[in-house]
Amino acid sequence: MTANPQSDAATESTAKDRVIIFDTTLRDGEQCPGATMTLEEKLQVADLLDEMGVDVIEAGFPIASNGDFEAVSLVAARMKNASVCGLARAAFKDIDRAAEALKGARRPRIHTFISTSPVHMKWKLQKTPDEVHELVVAQVSRARNHVEDVEWSCEDGTRTEHDFLCKVVESAIRAGATTINIPDTVGYTTPEEYFALIKMVRERVPNSDKAIFSVHCHDDLGMAVANSLAGLRAGARQIECTVNGIGERAGNAAMEEVVMAIQTRGDVLPFASGIKTEMLTRASKLVSAVTSFPVQYNKAVVGRNAFAHESGIHQDGMLKHTQTYEIMTPESVGVKQTSLVMGKHSGRNAFREKLKQLGYQLGDNEFEDAFNRFKDLADRKKVVYDEDIEALVDQEIATAQD
Ligand code: KIV
Ligand code: ZN
Repeated sequence: MTANPQSDAATESTAKDRVIIFDTTLRDGEQCPGATMTLEEKLQVADLLDEMGVDVIEAGFPIASNGDFEAVSLVAARMKNASVCGLARAAFKDIDRAAEALKGARRPRIHTFISTSPVHMKWKLQKTPDEVHELVVAQVSRARNHVEDVEWSCEDGTRTEHDFLCKVVESAIRAGATTINIPDTVGYTTPEEYFALIKMVRERVPNSDKAIFSVHCHDDLGMAVANSLAGLRAGARQIECTVNGIGERAGNAAMEEVVMAIQTRGDVLPFASGIKTEMLTRASKLVSAVTSFPVQYNKAVVGRNAFAHESGIHQDGMLKHTQTYEIMTPESVGVKQTSLVMGKHSGRNAFREKLKQLGYQLGDNEFEDAFNRFKDLADRKKVVYDEDIEALVDQEIATAQD
């Protein structure tokens, strides 16, 4: 742990490896039950992602529906900076449809995928490994005929047999894939295991230096962000993530968490993203509003309590120095200020500070009385609002004058 984590991020940024932020809120995020967005909402989200510095926006799955096709086409036509990506299964009709949707993009990317794990190949695809291998070569080549930027994913990569994984990755690169994604489709892996997997593939595949490796982690065991960061340390340079971590089942790695982890812990994660972090809270609020998915209060980085302190010990520390209990500043993620929430755990120092903010100056006895009455009130109410304190102190002053 460095002595001054908040300032390290700024001072070390030049020596860091750039990580590509690939946002899939509009595709994997929208795939989770209940998160459907209208076309207008998708465009609003895409505009914000582009403005905040996302490198690649996966805008949808064009073959899935006419609505998805239209959304990808419109996003493709209006993004000023980001590459726009369309998803396609390993089928010519999917790839051609994705290419068509991406026609208006300045920087189009086709993302094609096929399952490579024994359980998926046998039960879902009902294909042999050789058949899957052939499809990989054919589909990546097809995509490459349409665009220069082709991403290939081995779905269920973390449960894929290693020799086969290396063989298909090598063939995908030879066929023209420029990004190789090794997804943890079912959120099964652990940071150590994922680190070893990415390292092994990069070391064993002879042409691995011809492609950028990508991580795409699901959160079924709550390890999506940790696994993604382990993947970076093993040499991946693209992270696939979503705003608020929405996505299939338990969701994907949360963009705000990966971005702030690398910004805050530059000492052990020497990477940089191009994200304007002050826009993270705005993005979180927008995605929550358009999907109607609430953000949990204690959600890392963007939760309502992420910069709120109630206990007396913590409030006292915060009043003395903000780094006592905050490892990043609220401003750095677009929150105006830290809040000291007044409740039954608050102590005298925080209460005194609150009175000062509200414009009161009490003598010692009055202060003690007001503090005791505040504590009684806080025992009865979950949160004590400024108006409650004003009422209580006004009453105290009136009693003292009688
Ligand atoms: O989780 C997954 O494997 C996916 C692929 C389509 C990349 O979302
Ligand atoms: Zn996924």
